Amino acid sequence: MRSSRISGFYKLSFKKRLKVLEGFAGLNKEEIKILSNRGALGEIGERMIENVVGTMPLPLGIATNFLINGKDYLIPMAIDEPSVVAAASNAAKMAREKGGFETSSTEPIMIGQIQVTNIPDSLMAKSKILENKKKILEIANKKDPLLLKLGGGAKDIEVREINRMRIEEGKMIILHLLVNVKDAMGANVVNTMTEAVSPWLEKITGGKTLLRIVSNLATHRLASAKAVFRKEIIGGENVVDGIIKAYLFAQSDPYRCATHNKGIMNGIDAVLIATGNDFRAVEAGAHAFAAMTGKYLPLTDWQRNKDGDLAGHIKLPLAVGIVGGATNVHPTAKINLKILGVKTAGELAEVIAAVGLAQNFAALRALVKEGIQKGHMSLQAKNVAIVAGAKGKMVDKIAEILVKEKKVRIDRAKELLKKIK
Ligand code: MEV
Repeated sequence: MRSSRISGFYKLSFKKRLKVLEGFAGLNKEEIKILSNRGALGEIGERMIENVVGTMPLPLGIATNFLINGKDYLIPMAIDEPSVVAAASNAAKMAREKGGFETSSTEPIMIGQIQVTNIPDSLMAKSKILENKKKILEIANKKDPLLLKLGGGAKDIEVREINRMRIEEGKMIILHLLVNVKDAMGANVVNTMTEAVSPWLEKITGGKTLLRIVSNLATHRLASAKAVFRKEIIGGENVVDGIIKAYLFAQSDPYRCATHNKGIMNGIDAVLIATGNDFRAVEAGAHAFAAMTGKYLPLTDWQRNKDGDLAGHIKLPLAVGIVGGATNVHPTAKINLKILGVKTAGELAEVIAAVGLAQNFAALRALVKEGIQKGHMSLQAKNVAIVAGAKGKMVDKIAEILVKEKKVRIDRAKELLKKIK
């Protein structure tokens, strides 16, 4: 009987781990060879996570045509979904007509949360915390003198009380430590600071601290982008009208809104992954932000401007970094940051917001015009041809026939492959 209880898997060499997998899953030589080829990441991956047995490459595409605040960008996007890169490039091309994207961002302030429980007197605890603000910031800032020197560090606090607890659990006070993390994503430094501050908090409140962790709902670290799409360029008044109706649909229906926002995140995640950023953190923050009012809403909004053109806007928390984490470790992420040419984390966040807006525009335009499947078809057909066993030039040949016949199916691809061979 095979067992997943493997003691000390992490201590084995890369090769030995593959041997274990070979036995456990019956991997053949070809499969082991694929895992052994670690690509650009090489052995670095083994220092990034545990129990490494390979790397998981994704296609890396470049979105072209982006003009953001008058500056041209080529934007690396790592994603496995066809049409996303083409759609972003096409949307950016159309946006150029009216000057491209205009973006802005707030200071890179992250929130560190400290949960203080078992408070004897919450009113007294709150006023003690506020009285001791200077000391709290001082303790936090001792943890990162370099950040302080760069102009960052813990800057302020917010005190919140949570009352909706079962009575026996008592009240909770939540301290938000507001930290300017400069060009980092910042989770690490914020977590360190929250842990450093907590003994002092216990002392002054008489309570007990429990969780001490960054919040991924980075409401003090927002990026926004806007763009105008000239009606004649995007297909006329009907398309403007259709996109606004599509937006109103998302605004009033969470089922549609999830998909609307998913389309935005297609672009955002692809740039996050390409630059070695924590896409899980941004995803969590984006959806929580979308639901901040108590209703889950679109991250973008679309309106007709006074000329009858389509004006779009996006705003969301974007906790991204250009230093620290995988951004400086992953060789491809480093190259991608160089291609982007961003100088600060804020600039990266703004570029990403523009991509999110472009992606949303492209998806809505395709949906209101011809439906999404047409654009997806040809790349999807290539994937289907590959899965059916086509190689080299045969992939394009089979895919072309599948699209022409409107039968993008593996069984048909296999049939064709037999016939043509
Ligand atoms: C597919 O990955 C994304 C879309 O569904 C987004 C949308 O519906 O707005 C096309």
